[in-house]
Amino acid sequence: MTKRTGFVFRRDSLALTVARGLIGEGLHDYASGLFLAAPRRTGKSTFLREDLLPQCLKQDWLPVYVDLWADREKDPAELISSAIAVALVPYEKGIRKLAKSAGIEKLNFLRTLSWDFTQPQLPEGATLTQALELLNNASQKMIVLIIDEAQHALTSEAGVNAMFALKAARDELNQGLERGNGGLRLVLTGSNRDKLAHLVLNKNQPFYGSSITPFPLLGKDFTQAYTAHLNSHLAQTNQFSAANIDAAFDLVGRRPELLRTIIGDVALELGEAQNLGELLRNSAQLLRAGVWEEFESTYNALTLPQRAVLRVMADRAYDNQPFAPFADTTVLAVGEVLKALNSDVVPGTQTIQAAIDSLREKELVWKSSRGAYALEDKAFGEWLRQRRG
Ligand SMILES: Nc1ncnc2c1ncn2[C@@H]1O[C@H](COP(=O)(O)OP(=O)(O)OP(=O)(O)O)[C@@H](O)[C@H]1O
Ligand SMILES: [Mg+2]
Repeated sequence: MTKRTGFVFRRDSLALTVARGLIGEGLHDYASGLFLAAPRRTGKSTFLREDLLPQCLKQDWLPVYVDLWADREKDPAELISSAIAVALVPYEKGIRKLAKSAGIEKLNFLRTLSWDFTQPQLPEGATLTQALELLNNASQKMIVLIIDEAQHALTSEAGVNAMFALKAARDELNQGLERGNGGLRLVLTGSNRDKLAHLVLNKNQPFYGSSITPFPLLGKDFTQAYTAHLNSHLAQTNQFSAANIDAAFDLVGRRPELLRTIIGDVALELGEAQNLGELLRNSAQLLRAGVWEEFESTYNALTLPQRAVLRVMADRAYDNQPFAPFADTTVLAVGEVLKALNSDVVPGTQTIQAAIDSLREKELVWKSSRGAYALEDKAFGEWLRQRRG
């Protein structure tokens, strides 16, 4: 876990905007699902937990939060169904009553199966749709299923099936209720836009037709509040300016932790500092140079074909194109980069396959269970592109 400073900036209005979108009341209609993407460490999970969950409760909805990265050993499908099982526990009494009352055909599976509510798992044979329907019935509330790091589901067949099951559940529970309070809303987030896109891009992907919404990064209101927080601990004569803090925040990709690191560095020199703004800027630039240095040394450790494949992949991602490893255009493009790198290797599909395998081993490249590729760290791709100028 990261060190907590106790300062959490509340994003109420963003949470309200999302909530209104979920019931189709805002400018945007997220009734069929909201797919939020933003780079790593920019505050997605914090927003979901600290702002969106409370907002859902305020609206008298029932939020269920699942983090698919919480336990990487566990199958995403299992994580989702156990989160739903846990959410069902408070309604045990009502559910037992529901199960007894005749005529509720959809709850049939409850009568034939004995359910142990002390276990965070659904009864065997229960589908996600049945479980969500039951939760919806028992609670009499709209369910907002929030799945953090949703792209992780795409790495296993069971995970992909769980996503299809959620889509089916969404359609079932919202039938005839396109707008307003339906039975189920889905909020899915991911730290890699390209990976998340694999949920929505093609006809054979679970949420085909939906689009990815960029999650708004922390803005000037955050840096203002943070500056005030910092200044309250400083002498009147030695105060940060919000504009300088914001500029430094920008340099580190609007990541609160990196900003904290900068402040920590600067704090050591605070007493004597003449120009806090310059100190902040220098520290931010140093930090960024450090990250780039890491990229550089990772890149330098690669073989030429690996570098070439990585560069073509970064280009494809930049153009919002899928990376097709064995397409003629890919082989050609990799060959061109190799030539530019002064290599005599004329790549074939085998060269590319071998390069991809090592890149995956080094966790630089990610492959979905359906064979689509993306860069593990988008920032690395951006660095690659700017490096070439
Ligand atoms: N609103 C906020 N106010 C203060 N600090 C924040 C806020 N949002 C995020 N942070 C801090 O930024 C860091 C990253 O936050 P968080 O884990 O929410 O990001 P994330 O985008 O979910 O990251 P990951 O890509 O690892 O999932 C944490 O240390 C968190 O405390
Ligand atoms: Mg997160």
